[in-house]
Amino acid sequence: MYRKLYKEAKTMIDNAYAPYSRFKVGAAVMTTDGKIFKGANIENASFGAGICAEQVAVSAAVSAGEREFDAIAVVSGEGSAWPCGICRQFMYEFSPEMKVITGDDEDHLEVYELAELLPKGFVL
Ligand code: THU
Repeated sequence: MYRKLYKEAKTMIDNAYAPYSRFKVGAAVMTTDGKIFKGANIENASFGAGICAEQVAVSAAVSAGEREFDAIAVVSGEGSAWPCGICRQFMYEFSPEMKVITGDDEDHLEVYELAELLPKGFVL
């Protein structure tokens, strides 16, 4: 399952719009009932307006009505890519126990629980 999700994330790297950093990222998130939503990072001339691949994938899922996730895979054109702090909090809102997967290739995946990567994430 992790390998499949990682491969799905990888297919998104080419769709990334990253003319400023040239750091292309793909993400694929799986819901608890097995649906997959994908995203790539989208940068902007106003740098702060750019969004990460994870946010695009999770936003696609949440706006389709999904709320619970099992796992997200993230990969960049250069290999592993760990989610930034904002993305960790963005995902924590929905599924603190989801798995976060990355790696340089599908045979060298690293898997952590989101709550390990963001201890004591913010909740209201
Ligand atoms: N980026 C992501 O899309 N996901 C990550 O996990 C790390 C960073 C993007 C944001 C920006 O477009 C580029 O990578 C460089 O920071």
